[in-house]
Amino acid sequence: MRVSPSRLLHAAVGIAACLTLAAQAQTPPNGRLLASNCFQCHGTNGKGPGFDKLAGKSATEIYKELTEFRSGKEGDNIMARHAMGFTDAQMRSLAAWLSTQR
Ligand code: HEC
Repeated sequence: MRVSPSRLLHAAVGIAACLTLAAQAQTPPNGRLLASNCFQCHGTNGKGPGFDKLAGKSATEIYKELTEFRSGKEGDNIMARHAMGFTDAQMRSLAAWLSTQR
């Protein structure tokens, strides 16, 4: 049986697509990577032990508290300093990820 070049190409494209998907599956989601900055104090995956538990809070709540810390409206200490390091998009992304943790 002869294999036509177009079939070979088709197979190669298929394999490449699988490899790309496999590589993506191994990359941690951006939100978790950013949220890992919080684990030292709020526990792995925000589940404690440590300071206030983050797991189980809604994304909106976490985002709101972070922006309040950043603006200086709430707290003047550790969290305020920490929140200054994140952009809005990064806060939304890590808050969204933390809210999936129960
Ligand atoms: C160096 C330790 C430290 C790190 C890192 C840290 N936090 Fe905090 N966090 C605290 C402390 C301490 C408090 C208590 C409030 C204060 O002292 O300002 C707090 C409070 C909070 C609160 C308010 C909780 C409540 O119920 O009122 C939220 C929300 C929060 N942190 C989110 C985060 C997020 C999200 C990250 C990661 C981006 C993070 N924290 C990283 C120490 C930390």
